[in-house]
Amino acid sequence: MASIKKVVFPVAGLGTRMLPATRSLPKEMLPVVDKPIIEYALEEAAAAGAEQFIFVTGRGKALIEDHFDRAVELFDNLERKGKKQELEALRGATPPAGEVVYTRQQEAKGLGHAVWCARHLIGDEPFGVMLVDDLIDAATPCMKQMAEAHAATGGNVVAVMEVPEEQTARYGVLDPGKREGDLVEVRGLVEKPDPAEAPSRLAVVGRYVLLAEVFEHLSAHQVGAGGEIQLTDAMQRMIGRQPFHGLRFEGRRFDCGDKLGYLEAIFALALKRSDIGPELRELIARELG
Ligand code: G1P
Repeated sequence: MASIKKVVFPVAGLGTRMLPATRSLPKEMLPVVDKPIIEYALEEAAAAGAEQFIFVTGRGKALIEDHFDRAVELFDNLERKGKKQELEALRGATPPAGEVVYTRQQEAKGLGHAVWCARHLIGDEPFGVMLVDDLIDAATPCMKQMAEAHAATGGNVVAVMEVPEEQTARYGVLDPGKREGDLVEVRGLVEKPDPAEAPSRLAVVGRYVLLAEVFEHLSAHQVGAGGEIQLTDAMQRMIGRQPFHGLRFEGRRFDCGDKLGYLEAIFALALKRSDIGPELRELIARELG
């Protein structure tokens, strides 16, 4: 099976678009239905075969570490009460000791800088990067689709989707080359271009499989769009040296860093659930009625 062993989760961002909820709560801990956003990402990485989950955190993010720890009182309490199902669910969602690693970004210098902070934990192998705000609901977990694409092409792979023209300035945008099925050759990448300058409407969403060479480019600490060290710029410098493709993944992406996107994720996922979906449907109908 195609797999990606190490996945980096840059989670140092402040989550200002979700204030005041994120004043002290890490945005990655906001629940979508009954599970924190971060846990969806971890499950997706595990489905791609990940065995090392590398979190690049910052101040105020310690709750994330606590979440993936063994909460002794809680586990004991559930055990005493004979709540086997709940206990098993918690155990299943706790990565084995030594598989989660935390390092701190220290300064908010951009996504490229955050990924660079994980360089010593990666070594020479291809690795995944997942932006947790981008929650992707898919029959085959998106990171698994990415691992399979990488196994087929051998190079860098970024997840892409079409966005409306007026939204290009929110994303890294592809200059697309040859298309083969779901794969698009990457000829160029531009970070957050105005619609007039965008080479296409194919936007990068938060799933990447990258070759370790990216660290050589990130080490230059070159500042790009928005005065930040951009991952997009380092990736742009790899084009032509190794295969580089965009994967038009199967699935639905929600921007959970945004109030409406977050609500959309909650409703879409809750409506699909057999335990609460039907009643929620009635509740919404009543509310709108
Ligand atoms: C980041 C990347 C951008 C990418 C986007 C996907 O931007 O810099 O290239 O398209 O994530 O969500 P951010 O949303 O962190 O500003």
